[in-house]
Amino acid sequence: MSMPKVRVKVPASTANLGPGFDSLGMALNLYAWIDMAVSEKTTIRLIGDQMNGIPTDKSNLIYKVAQMVFEQAGVSHPELDIAMYSDIPLTRGLGSSASAIIGALAGANALIGNKLTTDELFQIATRLEKHPDNVGASLFGGIVVAFWDGQRAESIRLEPDPNLEVLVAIPAFQLSTEKARGVMPQQVSMKDAVFNLSHSSLLVAALSTGNLDMIRHAMKDALHQPYRAALIPGMTTILEQADRHGALGVALSGAGPTLLTLVDARSDRKAELEVFLKETLLKEGIEAQTLWLKPSGEGVTISYPAAGDADLQAWIQGGVRV
Ligand code: HSE
Repeated sequence: MSMPKVRVKVPASTANLGPGFDSLGMALNLYAWIDMAVSEKTTIRLIGDQMNGIPTDKSNLIYKVAQMVFEQAGVSHPELDIAMYSDIPLTRGLGSSASAIIGALAGANALIGNKLTTDELFQIATRLEKHPDNVGASLFGGIVVAFWDGQRAESIRLEPDPNLEVLVAIPAFQLSTEKARGVMPQQVSMKDAVFNLSHSSLLVAALSTGNLDMIRHAMKDALHQPYRAALIPGMTTILEQADRHGALGVALSGAGPTLLTLVDARSDRKAELEVFLKETLLKEGIEAQTLWLKPSGEGVTISYPAAGDADLQAWIQGGVRV
């Protein structure tokens, strides 16, 4: 029996949202696509320049993660035809590795008739990433509140407020999560722990009740951002002043270096905020790309291209990515 090709669309994500270190995530409407099919000989095509250097043999992350699904489901498909295209910048704090993991899990699972449950995919993804924030958002969409205790991840998804917009400033340099976690202390004070749990709790309450004005008070952090600021010149100024330029709240996106502001879609100060972010970074000699995004209500989705449909490269070049 021939197996269908699957096409996966998976959103980028931002993690932490300031105080929710390793526990809050939000999916963003910036996407990666993966085509996957069982074949006779493995071929892995990475479309576009930004994935230069990523392996195209069986050490490729997508291939390896797909094999984990097959192993857990008790099936064998050692040869795969994989193509991937991504609009998500790599190593910038927008969840590119989480999106690849979720895309591979969901694609491989769809290929075998969804033998694993969504919860099983979430558990595998969290074990791989070691925190559930980015993977939860890419899998479920919306805003995800989650923990991982080393054994199991638990999560609740919140619907993002329809008036929430996101402006990100993506610096033109990469910062590995490993490096950005390496600057954090092993121990924190009770005062900082209480600061974060109160702010994170209030942020979740604000986001789930649509109390957008409370975000500016809640989106503050004492656990990771103060330490990571040394790695991103201009970050402290942006964290301190973005709300004076029209942001509802501001945070480092994941492990950085991208800075993320939440904005009321009805604001008339969007241009001012964008200039503020760009110019603050530029004063430190850092070029940054700004992007206006929305929360993605949908997590990973699967479609089944017919035999005669365009392959991923031709489809991407067609320009309509839906
Ligand atoms: N919560 C993680 C961190 C996200 O801030 O290190 C990056 O993977």
